[in-house]
Order: sequence, then C-alpha cells, then structure tokens
Amino acid sequence: MEEDRVITPAQKDEDKTLDSTLRPAKLDDFIGQSRIKDNLNIFMEAATKRKEPIEHVLLHGGPGLGKTTLAYIIAKEMTANIRITSGPAIEKAGDLAAILTNLSEGDVLFIDEIHRLNKTIEEILYPAMEDYALDIIVGKGPGARTLRLDLPKFTIIGATTRMSLISSPLRDRFGVHFKLNYYETEEIEEIINRSSKILATQIDDEAANKIAGRSRQTPRVANRLLKRVRDFAQVKSEGQITPDITDEALSMMEIDESGLDPVDRKILEAIIEKFSGGPVGVSTLAAATGEEVDTIEELYEPYLMQCGLLKRTPRGRVATENAYKHLNIAVPEDLQSKLL
Ligand SMILES: Nc1ncnc2c1ncn2[C@@H]1O[C@H](COP(=O)(O)OP(=O)(O)O)[C@@H](O)[C@H]1O
Ligand SMILES: [Mg+2]
Repeated sequence: MEEDRVITPAQKDEDKTLDSTLRPAKLDDFIGQSRIKDNLNIFMEAATKRKEPIEHVLLHGGPGLGKTTLAYIIAKEMTANIRITSGPAIEKAGDLAAILTNLSEGDVLFIDEIHRLNKTIEEILYPAMEDYALDIIVGKGPGARTLRLDLPKFTIIGATTRMSLISSPLRDRFGVHFKLNYYETEEIEEIINRSSKILATQIDDEAANKIAGRSRQTPRVANRLLKRVRDFAQVKSEGQITPDITDEALSMMEIDESGLDPVDRKILEAIIEKFSGGPVGVSTLAAATGEEVDTIEELYEPYLMQCGLLKRTPRGRVATENAYKHLNIAVPEDLQSKLL
C-alpha cells in the first residue's frame, strides 16, 4: 500500500510532526526554487507598498515539493492570518460561505487540493475571488432573489498536484501561478544539512549526498529518509550518520541507488516482462501490478519519467533503454520503434 512506502512523496502520518518541525518559516530559509522566490518577493513588496493583500496565488507541483510550506511563508511574510482548508473538505455551499464570511481583511485562505472542489462550490468562489462578494440565494421558487454580501479583501492560495484537473475559469482567477519543480541534488543536500541541524544530528557530506541521491529530488522524501537513517544510526553507531551506516540503512529499506523502491521496480518489470516493454495502457498496468491508476499517475510515473526510465506515448507506457539497464535485462532490438 502507498502508505507503507518509505519513499512516497505523499504525506504519511509519521511526517506530520516532522513536516511542521522542519518546515522553513521564512522565504530566505526556503531552499531552491529561486525563480519563484524572486517573483514572490516582488509581488509581496508591491502589495505591501500598495497596502493591499497580494493577488490570489496558485501553486502547482508534485507532493512534497513545498506547496504548503510556501503558503505558510507567504502568509507569514505578509503578516497575515492563514486559514487552512482543502477541496474535499468543503462539501456544501454553506461550508464555503461560513469560511468566507469569517475572513478578515488581508487574511490568507489556503485551499489545498483545490482540483477536488466540486463545481457548484467553485462557482461561489468566482465572485468571491473577483469582486470580494458572496452571492446568497434567499427564498425559494419564483420569489427567490440573490443577495450580495461584501467580503473583506483577502488572498486565496490554492495548491494542486493536478493542474490539468483545474477548470480554466478557476485557473484564470488566480493572478499568479507558480510551478514547483523537482530539486537539484545540491539543493536536497542543503535541505538535509539544514534538517540535521534542527534535529541535532551529526552527518557528514558523503552521507548527506547518499541520502540526497535517493530522495527522488523531493524535500519531504529527503527529510523522511534522514529521519529513518538517524534512527538507525542511533541504534548502531551512537547517532553519528556515516556513509556506511547510511548504506546499511538504505539497503534495509530496499531503496536502490536511483531512489527506486520495490514498487517502482515492480512497475518497470511488469511493463518489460508482462507487456514486452510496452506500450501498455495505464489501467492495464494498474491491474497487472495491483496498484490504483491514480496512484500510478500521480506518485510513481512522474519520478520514473523524471529519471528517464519510463515514457508516456500516445499508445501507452513504454520502458526506456535505461529501464532495461537498471534492471539488468537485455535491451530488445526493436525498442526504438516502441518509443515513438
Ligand atoms: N524549499 C524547501 N526548503 C526546505 N525544506 C522544504 C522545502 N520544500 C519543502 N520542504 C520540506 O518538505 C516538507 C514537505 O513540504 P510541503 O510544503 O508539505 O509539501 P507539499 O505541500 O507540496 O506536499 C516540509 O515540511 C519541509 O520540511
Ligand atoms: Mg501540502
């Protein structure tokens, strides 16, 4: 199950405390994503000069890349209160109306997984975002009329892992869009070193580099691996994280040198062995591996593609030459034609 994987980028129960302990509170402490930071600094400074809340911000990127962290940072830097909710948590129109009418001037409303908002609720958001107004229908039948309530000026920060599922009217109402990218290995090392300090753990550069290499370019995974290796080191070597201890801990977790775990390898093996390398449709692949289609698309494929091990083609998923090499399987001669 997804929750059992050590390297899943999705938030596990064990991460909740870790995420909040290690979450940088200031933009200066947020590592990497320099283009986003530069832009944000400008937006925030301009808004502060105008004495206005910043425009609505849409954050887009895979799980564990820092969307929630950025939302908190923006609120803090704007000295605004932050209210947290999520697409699936807002079930009825009344839920959203209650949230909106309780906001104060300048507040930030963070809506996580905003792609999962239902359509009727989305429509209430349009005038709220555009005109700071809430339209309420009073009465029933022919006598029904719309009452418009004014809302304070506030900022919505939306976060999504699935940009393609956001309707264009909603997307267009965000003044600013930021896409968070996977991190460079050096940035992940920096995050690991920063986290080690906070956790009061000794780690050398080589060990930090080994953990970074297996972290799927994702801060949340890096922090989780660091914590696991630290626990291992506490038992085996009085807490010092050395390269040897790191290797031992990582191999016990069955994470290979590219950061792939047994499920990633199972997916690649299925494509190669059960479907002669592909192309294979995602639902067939899901059935063959016992995984959910959504989980494959959202959590496994992005990293396998990022590593150049899997390719999406119009006819389905194909294992690349690197995948065969990674699994020590002979590369078939007709591979090039499959990859088109
Ligand atoms: N740029 C960053 N610099 C330092 N730590 C980060 C950064 N981005 C994320 N993290 C760490 O990773 C954890 C997960 O990030 P989070 O914002 O919860 O991801 P998301 O909301 O995109 O799933 C955070 O608790 C934080 O400790
Ligand atoms: Mg989040």
